[in-house]
Amino acid sequence: PTITYILKDGSARRIDARTGASVMETAVHHNVRGIDAECGGSCSCATCHVYVADDFMDRLPPPDDMENELLDGVAADRLPGSRLSCQLVVGPELDGLTVRIPESQA
Ligand code: FES
Repeated sequence: PTITYILKDGSARRIDARTGASVMETAVHHNVRGIDAECGGSCSCATCHVYVADDFMDRLPPPDDMENELLDGVAADRLPGSRLSCQLVVGPELDGLTVRIPESQA
């Protein structure tokens, strides 16, 4: 599945992601700037915050309570498309997913 990351400067990184990896792991693995993932994916740091493009929002499972709580405390504005990328697992249904990295993280 191909995942596109929109960076702070507006440029796009298109990455061929491995099924079963998270959107965060895929970014870290390919040195995408702006996804620090300080907690390593245990849903406790919120430095993997991304904005999911509108057309994919309803294709993702909704955030669980813990993610929801962390999203309330993210450094950048919480928007309708806000998600923690460590909680999004890549599968075939996410092919073509675009996520934008908040400016404050880049
Ligand atoms: Fe820390 Fe996602 S990597 S919350």
